[in-house]
Amino acid sequence: MKFNKNKIESDIQIHIFMCTNERTVKNKSCGKKGSLIMFKYLKQRMKTASEMYSKKVKVISSGCLSSCSNGPVVVCYPEGVWYNISSNKDVDMLINRFEKLWLEELRLNESTIV
Ligand code: FES
Repeated sequence: MKFNKNKIESDIQIHIFMCTNERTVKNKSCGKKGSLIMFKYLKQRMKTASEMYSKKVKVISSGCLSSCSNGPVVVCYPEGVWYNISSNKDVDMLINRFEKLWLEELRLNESTIV
């Protein structure tokens, strides 16, 4: 395995891990609840997002995150916040949440406004 220095120095601020694990035995796995479809939708949304935004977020398919009964589950770092994402509409809400956070970064300090 080669060490990729460029990846370490990237602009990524948020990692979104979405469980796409699918078990053939139990029905409680996230994959059985459609997480792979939502993962693909999330990836597609990120591709069409603005360049600045898409550089800040890395979306990763994961194996079982050990919270199967709450699935489909997503965990976002560095916050370490967990979400139940059950539809593409939920994916949109997740993206909107991060967009609002970045919008706050652009907010001007009122004392600097003349
Ligand atoms: S199968 Fe998704 S958390 Fe276990």
